[in-house]
This record gives sequence, C-alpha cells and structure tokens, in this order.
Amino acid sequence: MSILSFLKRQLPGSSIDYRIQPRKVKFDWKETPVDWIPEQPFASYFINEINNILPAGEFWFCRLYNKVLPQISDEKLKQDVQAFIRQEAMHANAHTSANKEYLSARQIDIQRNLDIMNFLFTKLLADQPLDYEVPKVLEKQWDLFRLGVIATVEHMTCVLGKYALYNEKWHALGADPEMIDLIKWHGAEEIEHRTVAFDLYRHLGGGYIARYYLSVIVIAVVLGLWVDGAAHIMKQDPRFADKNPSLWRPWVWLEWYKQGRKDNQILPNPIWLVAQQIDYLMPWYDPVKEGSTEDAVRYLNQSPAAKRALLNAA
Ligand SMILES: [Fe+2]
Ligand SMILES: [Fe+2]
Repeated sequence: MSILSFLKRQLPGSSIDYRIQPRKVKFDWKETPVDWIPEQPFASYFINEINNILPAGEFWFCRLYNKVLPQISDEKLKQDVQAFIRQEAMHANAHTSANKEYLSARQIDIQRNLDIMNFLFTKLLADQPLDYEVPKVLEKQWDLFRLGVIATVEHMTCVLGKYALYNEKWHALGADPEMIDLIKWHGAEEIEHRTVAFDLYRHLGGGYIARYYLSVIVIAVVLGLWVDGAAHIMKQDPRFADKNPSLWRPWVWLEWYKQGRKDNQILPNPIWLVAQQIDYLMPWYDPVKEGSTEDAVRYLNQSPAAKRALLNAA
C-alpha cells in the first residue's frame, strides 16, 4: 500500500450510517400576518429576520461544497454532502419565498438586509474574496477556513434547530402554522444533517485549534447580523418608533434577553445561545451527540409541508 493511500484511509469520513433525506417543500404565505405570533411584534420580527439572513449563506454553503466535492474520498460522506447541498438549497428557497411573498408583500423594506448578506457571501467569502485572486499555495487554506466557518455555523443551526423543534410556546400562543412549520421543518433538517459540515471539515484536514477563533468570530458576527437586521425591519413599524431600534442601542439586546427568559420562551435566550458554543470547543465534540435524529425525523414525517412534498413526488 502506498503512503498516500494509507493516509487517505486514515482520514475521518462520515460519522452516520443513515441516509439524509432532502424534501421538496413549498409554503404559502397568503394568510401569514406580520405578527405571526399574535401580539408579539418583537419576537415575530426577530424570527422573521432569519428569512433575510439565511438564503445567501445557504447558497454559499452549496457553492463551496460543490467545489470541494471531488476531493472527498469517503463514499458515504460524499452522499451526505450531496444530500446536505440539496437540503440547504431547499432551505434557501423556502426562506426566499418568505422574504418575497410575505415580508416584501407586506411593504417591509428588506433590501438593505439582503444586500449585506449578499456582500458577505458573494464578495467577501467568495472563491476570490473582493475579486482578489487567492494565490495557488493558499487556496486550500482559504477553502479550509471557509469550511471551518460552515462547520461552526452548522453547530449553531443545530442548536437553534433543537430550540425550534422542542418549542411549544409558539403553538400555545396561536402562532401562524405555516411559519411554525417552516421553522420546525428547517430546524429538524438541521438536526438530521448536523454531522456533515464537521465531518467534511475534518475529512479535508480541518484542525482543532482553528475551532477556537472561528467559534468566537462566527458567534459574534451571527448575533450582530441578526440583531442589526431585526432592528432594521422593526424600526419601520410605528409601534417601535419611540425605541429607535439599532444594533448599537441596548434596548434590542435587553428585549431579546427578556423574551428568551425561562418564563417567556418565545425566543432562544442569547446567553444560552453563546453558552451552547462551549460544547463545540471541546476536543471530544461529537455532532452525533448534539441532537436526536429520531425526534427530527418524527417531526419531518408529520410536517405539513414535508407531507405535501411527499404527495407531490408520488
Ligand atoms: Fe439550513
Ligand atoms: Fe444546515
């Protein structure tokens, strides 16, 4: 056996033995009100902002994963990555439908938020960042850095997915079923594919140390973008005029914290969210242990949108 084939056999591959299932879902936004959680405009806007944040990033995951696909030597991991790409592309399309047919249709200006995300994912984190040609010797490092960013984000999306999957408060408050289903379907698929980004990062040589700085950067950027975007759509609503919501004013952060407290549970608590990153920093981190595939698939088997997708495919 050559040294190269020996080394290749040692690369960590897929850590799951089940098949990840892409689902071709479609949502209808005609009936969804701006306050999709009744009488909870803050939480409704806050969660609505994910419709603006996610699509550009998820399409970027797909482009980068398609680029590195030929480098994967583990067949099962390759299948996982292909299924991941199909799931993420569908997530991006579903959230795009919400931002076009729901938020824009209700005269909420979201273009500024979409422009920021597009700049981040089609310019700054592109194969040629800010149109700068990455020297050949650094190309692999640039890909690995970006794969590390995705692995870190995917740990967060798994954590948020669990929060959404087990949330009962939205339903109890009479929230819009279509939006609950979008969020729970997406969250459940995040749990279903939670191993893929981490497995791929390690398979292509991603190291442990980088997880520290990536984790710190990613959590700060994600929370900042979320609060900034939510503040922008919120401040268009006269009900928030006196608060003048902004990333730089404590009001949004305090309100987020209040709504995420145990006695409220309408939003994931920001402090809890940051604390969830600690797991990811442990040398023994294992994404398999971060969620229950059975619980995720149980939801996906009864999700109205996933059931409609099954009927359409039949
Ligand atoms: Fe996703
Ligand atoms: Fe994901």
